[in-house]
Amino acid sequence: MAVSHLSEDEQTLIEAIREIALERVAPRAAEIDHTGEFPWDMKELLAQQDILAMPFPTEYGGIGASELAVVMAIEELSRQCATTGLILAVQQLGSFPILLAGNEEQKQKYLPPLASGEWLAAFGLTEAGSGSDAAAMKTVAVRSGDKYILNGSKRFITNGGLAQVNSIFALTDPKIGTRGISAFIVEKDFPGFSVGRIEDKMGIKGSQTGELIFTDCEVPAENLLGREGDGFKIAMMTLDRTRPGIGAQALGIAQGALDLAVSYSKQRIQFNRPIADNQGIQFMLADMATGVEAARLLVYNAAEMIDNGEQDFSRYSSMAKMFASDIAMDVTGDAVQILGGYGYMKEYPAERMMRDAKITQIYEGTNQIQRLVIARALLE
Ligand code: CAA
Repeated sequence: MAVSHLSEDEQTLIEAIREIALERVAPRAAEIDHTGEFPWDMKELLAQQDILAMPFPTEYGGIGASELAVVMAIEELSRQCATTGLILAVQQLGSFPILLAGNEEQKQKYLPPLASGEWLAAFGLTEAGSGSDAAAMKTVAVRSGDKYILNGSKRFITNGGLAQVNSIFALTDPKIGTRGISAFIVEKDFPGFSVGRIEDKMGIKGSQTGELIFTDCEVPAENLLGREGDGFKIAMMTLDRTRPGIGAQALGIAQGALDLAVSYSKQRIQFNRPIADNQGIQFMLADMATGVEAARLLVYNAAEMIDNGEQDFSRYSSMAKMFASDIAMDVTGDAVQILGGYGYMKEYPAERMMRDAKITQIYEGTNQIQRLVIARALLE
């Protein structure tokens, strides 16, 4: 376990979350994957235990946990069920634009019900034609009196259709590139807001991924975040702060796969002895454990840089997300291999972990985009 600098209270909290994850989350993981339904019971559990309140300051109903504690919580939940870990990660992602750029009134109105878990949040940046090139978005917002009128759509939105509060990025001035993008708080009930297709995915099956459609959607002007044109920076600053959380989800999945591979290899008898007696298996386990530990150090480091208010942490967030997700893919693949035929079957969770791991290399910026962010920072 990596050295961490949690307060005593936060250490106790993380130990409690580990227990909750083992006792309450783990038994639901296979069923959540099988049914593909959003686990409202898990959302309630996280809300009741104040786990969803962790990323929010106390003045807005949260418990003001450190980012290090938040990533450790995501890790412990994802170790048992990646869909459940994602509930906390996306609550933070969807709310961060408000935390970063919201005025006092917006914060007072929207953050307490998000901290209590009464409402879910979503982050609407991606569109059908703009993924890695986030600035290529087509959704527009035109000011009309005391409203903005939004037209366009967002795709692959985690919690899309479930979230009451959606941080939406749209063009207020299409002629000036990234400086013409603005951010809005869009409630699910605003006129002209609707939900399109719900995706059928490879993994994180219980998490709902939906399309958001804006047809002359009326958003009060007071729901603009910051000033017109601030949107792209708000999106980038948010992702800088939340990518370690996706690293933590990947880390949790990888740790869960390692736990499984270790226990299986001690029990599985072939040629009259546990397969763990074979050096071929031992070396795989050693490499898996080393990768997991290295990923942990990067994830915790990025979180602590955020907690310490360091300025130049963007590349470290990207390194944490990129490395941990690549390790999660490797380690879950190796876990399937160690479990052999059982690894490929749904009877064991290894194959689910492998499917769940894949998305962590893709969302919140593909790992190719993370490399670009790191390289740009090195070369600037
Ligand atoms: N912080 C603050 N400002 C930033 C910034 C940062 N990290 N990165 C860029 N900016 C600013 C730049 O300084 C620049 O400002 P000026 O106009 O004042 O000069 C402006 O933003 C434009 O920057 P770039 O020229 O670097 O922009 P770009 O078009 O080249 O894009 C990119 C950069 C890093 C590739 C960006 O498009 C990107 O991150 N793409 C990936 C998008 C992504 O991660 N999507 C994930 C969606 S969310 C999701 O997946 C959630 C889920 O389901 C769980």
